[in-house]
Order: sequence, then structure tokens, then C-alpha cells
Amino acid sequence: MELKQYSAEVQARINNLMERRLAALDEAAPKLKEAMRYGLLLGGKRARPLLVYASGRAFGVAPERLDATAAAIECIHAYSLIHDDMPEMDNDLLRRGKPSVHAAFSPQLALLSGDALQALAFEFLADSPLPPAVVTKQLQLLAVNAGYSGMCGGQALDLQSEHQSIPYETLRTLHAKKTGALILAAVLMGAAAGNPSAAAVQALTRYAQKIGLAFQIWDDVLDVIGDSALTGKPVGNDEAAGKSTYPALFGLDKAKELALAAKDEALDALSQPALAGCDTEVLQQFALFCVTRDH
Ligand code: IPE
Ligand code: IPE
Ligand code: MG
Ligand code: MG
Ligand code: MG
Repeated sequence: MELKQYSAEVQARINNLMERRLAALDEAAPKLKEAMRYGLLLGGKRARPLLVYASGRAFGVAPERLDATAAAIECIHAYSLIHDDMPEMDNDLLRRGKPSVHAAFSPQLALLSGDALQALAFEFLADSPLPPAVVTKQLQLLAVNAGYSGMCGGQALDLQSEHQSIPYETLRTLHAKKTGALILAAVLMGAAAGNPSAAAVQALTRYAQKIGLAFQIWDDVLDVIGDSALTGKPVGNDEAAGKSTYPALFGLDKAKELALAAKDEALDALSQPALAGCDTEVLQQFALFCVTRDH
């Protein structure tokens, strides 16, 4: 399975699903609904839904069973981006090639659309067709990895590390939490639907931690050498904001090297005996994509 095609299928599938869900909301707060739609539906690679489906696929879980899971995690991701761009955080005006939500609408609607998308994530999971025990596990994975111990905690670390020289260990934790946590949740939530063994979960955890790191290092790299027309985001803003990033701490070449090493470790995790017999081809290709992508 070619990653490009798999990814296109995931995008079409998830966009259609989320589009329908938003269309079904009532018209009581049309501007809020419009801001949610803008933040959720206009662009995005849908990398986390892809990981949900690919991880489920490794255990033979059909995509239909994972639609709610994939939508839930993308809603959390979209909310994190809307808030991340606000003046109180990264103060970025461009996202997915268009004005950020706070710029296109208002700071109030950016706050509220993020909040509402976070709530919508849990609504999606509550409506999942998976067995209740699986859904409970997924709820726990999503809540833990989105909140204090995961993405929000990482975002706080990111902000408090601006204009600071932080130890390598802290930078690793920062990346693992702000970006790695949701990627880990995506992989484990997809797998949870397929009754994985404890050893398989362990191998996938290692895989996810390593691609999460590679993904964010590459995001840092693209902030230095990327093409804004392709990334849809400003270039050079990390440096301007004094962000603690891999290129800032190690220089560009070493940062790339560390991303490639993380990719290799991710591939190694997939080759563990615990995953023998699982179709991990898409997961393998995604690891490579993390450190070759231009967007
Ligand atoms: C950007 O995420 C923010 C990070 C956590 C690195 P993506 O690169 O997945 O952004 P979209 O969803 O494709 O726009
Ligand atoms: C964002 O990291 C992580 C999130 C939880 C949104 P960045 O601040 O580097 O993400 P971009 O570059 O703005 O997408
Ligand atoms: Mg940020
Ligand atoms: Mg940002
Ligand atoms: Mg970035």
C-alpha cells in the first residue's frame, strides 16, 4: 500500500465524516460553528487519523470501526493548533496556508472553537461503535495524552522555555509531551480496537514515541528551511520567538541526524517479534514520511 494513496483515502474519509458531523450541529451559534469548521476542515495532513487507521489495520480492524476514534483525535489536534496560534501562545497568523482562526474570526471565537472541538472529540468517542471496554480505554488514552500529562503540559513547557537555554532532557520531554503524546494516543487508540497483546502495545508505544519525536524535530527543521507555500505556516518564527527547538539547541544538521535516528528506532520497534504477523507496512512508511516531508 502506497502511503500517498492511503493518506488520500484517509483524508477523504475523515473530512467527509467530520463535515457531516459539523453540518448536523444546530444554528444557535453560527459564527462559532463557522470558526470550528474553518479550524477543523480547511486543510491538514490528517496524520493522526492515518495513524489510528494504520495501527488498527495492523490488527485487522476495519476502518469503519475506527472512524469515531480518528475523528476524536483530529478534533483535539485541531483545537490544539487553534489555541497554539493565538497571540497568548505562538502568535502566528498563518495556518494551513490561511489566516489563523483568531485572525480570520476573533480571539474569542478562537478560544471557544478550540474548547468546543475538544468537547466534540469526546462526543465522537461516546458515539463509537466499539465495545464499551475498548471505548473506555480510548477515553483514558485521549484524556491523559491531551491534558496536563500530555499535550497541554508540553505546551506549557514550550512557553516557559522561550528565550531559555534548557537541558537536552527537558527539550526531549517538551517534544514528547506537546506532540508525541497525541501521536502516541493515536497509535494506541487504533490498536486498542484490535485486542493487542501487552508485548505488542509495548512495541507500538516505542514506535509511537520515536515517530512523535521525529515528527516534531522535523516540524522544527521545516520552521528553519521549509517553504511556507508548502507548510502553510510562517517560516522563521521559532527563532524569532526564542523557542527551544532541536535546531536551536543542536544546529540544523545535528537536528536532522537526530530525527533520522529516531525514525530508525521507530522502524526497529516495528520489527519486534511481538508484532510479527501484523501488517505494519503503513506504519513503516509513515516513519519515513516524518523525516522526509516538506509539509
Ligand atoms: C502541526 O501538526 C503541529 C505539531 C504538533 C507538529 P501537523 O503537522 O500534523 O499539522 P496539520 O494537521 O497537518 O496541519
Ligand atoms: C505545536 O508545536 C504543538 C501543538 C500542540 C500544537 P508548534 O508550535 O511547533 O506547532 P506549529 O509549528 O505551530 O504547527
Ligand atoms: Mg507552539
Ligand atoms: Mg506554533
Ligand atoms: Mg512548529
